[in-house]
Amino acid sequence: MTAASDRNETGAVLAVDDLTVEFPTEDGIVRAVRGVSYRLERRESLGIVGESGSGKSVTALAVMGLLPATARVRGSVRFEDTELLALSDARLSDFRGSGLAMIFQDPMTSLNPVYSAGYQIVETLRRHQPDMTARAARERAVELLGTVGIPSPERRVDAYPHELSGGMRQRVVIAIAMANAPDVIIADEPTTALDVTVQAQILDALETARAETGAALILITHDLGVVAGHADRVAVMYAGRIIETGSVEDIFYTPRMPYTLGLLGSLPRLDREEERLTPITGSPPSLLNLPPGCPFAPRCPMRRNVCDETEPPLRPAGRSTHLSACHFAEELVNTGAGEIFETAGADIDALTRFADTAQSPEEGTA
Ligand SMILES: Nc1ncnc2c1ncn2[C@@H]1O[C@H](COP(=O)(O)OP(=O)(O)O)[C@@H](O)[C@H]1O
Ligand SMILES: [Mg+2]
Repeated sequence: MTAASDRNETGAVLAVDDLTVEFPTEDGIVRAVRGVSYRLERRESLGIVGESGSGKSVTALAVMGLLPATARVRGSVRFEDTELLALSDARLSDFRGSGLAMIFQDPMTSLNPVYSAGYQIVETLRRHQPDMTARAARERAVELLGTVGIPSPERRVDAYPHELSGGMRQRVVIAIAMANAPDVIIADEPTTALDVTVQAQILDALETARAETGAALILITHDLGVVAGHADRVAVMYAGRIIETGSVEDIFYTPRMPYTLGLLGSLPRLDREEERLTPITGSPPSLLNLPPGCPFAPRCPMRRNVCDETEPPLRPAGRSTHLSACHFAEELVNTGAGEIFETAGADIDALTRFADTAQSPEEGTA
C-alpha cells in the first residue's frame, strides 16, 4: 500500500495543502483563508497564532468539515491517508471524535446542558467500546475527570454543566476528548473565555490529555504567550495566510516577519517592569477587497514600494524549517523583539542588520 508507506515515511497525521476558503456574501467574496498549508506530525503540538479575524477558526472548521454550506473550500486536508475534503458529511463524522476532536472557546458548544458530565463521558466511552459495562464506563468517567483536574470527581460526575464553573466545564470537554482517544485535538482559543488564574490549569489539562492519548495538538490562540510553553512549532496567521512558521525557538528568538516582531513586542516584559507594551498600531485589512501587495504593509514600519506591489510568498528564511512571507526577511536577522515597532518612524535601515554582516546564533548549529 503506497499510501500507508507514505505515511510511515513522513509520520504526518494531518496534512493541509493550499487550503482556501471563501464566503460569498452580499458585499462580495470574503477571502477568509488564502492558501494555508501545514503538516502535523504524530504527537506534535502546533500553535496557530494571529489577531482576531486572521482565519484561524475558519481553517480549523474546514479541517473538521464544520463550515456552513455557503463556504467554498478548495485544497486538500489529509488525515493519515484519507482526503477529508472529498468525504460526505456522514463519512466525515466517522473521523470526528476518534480521529479529530475539536475543543471550542465556549465549552457549552460541545456539552449538552440536559445531561450530566458523567453521562456524556460514559456515552462517548461506550460508543467506542460497546462491550464496556455501565459500571466500568462510570468508573473510567470518574477517573478521566480526576485526570483533567476536577476535584472530588466521584461527586462531580453527576453534576450538570450549569452546576460547573467555566473552567470545570472546559475540563469536562477535555475529558470527553480523551474518552474518544483522538489522533488529533484541535483546541480553538480553549482558555480565551476563562479567568486568567484558570487558563494555565486548562492548558495543563490539555497537556495531560495529549500525553495520555498520544494525540497531536493544534493549539489556536491570539496570544503568543500561550504557545511558548505548549507548542513545538508555531504558525503565525495574518489576513487568511500563514505569514511565518517555524519552531518555537525560530519564532521567539529569530522572528523573520515584522508582524511576528510586533506580536512579540506586544508581550508584557516580565524582566523589565518599566518597559511599556509596544502594540502594533492599526488594524488588519478587510478580507473583502484585499489590495495587491503584502496585507501587513499598511501597518509595517519596514514598508517599501515593493510591499505595496507584490504579496511575498512564504519561503525559507534561515533554517529550512523556518519560513517567512516578507520581502525583507533577511534584514531582520538578529533584530530584537519589539525594536522595530518601538522605533517606528526612525531610520529602519540603520536598525536592521543584514544577513552578511550578522549571523543568527541558531544558524551556526543548523
Ligand atoms: N460564515 C461566514 N460568512 C462570512 N464570513 C465569515 C464567516 N465565518 C468567518 N468569516 C470571516 O472570515 C474571516 C476569518 O474568520 P475567523 O477564522 O473566525 O478568524 P479568527 O478565528 O482568526 O478570529 C473573518 O473576516 C470573518 O469575518
Ligand atoms: Mg477564532
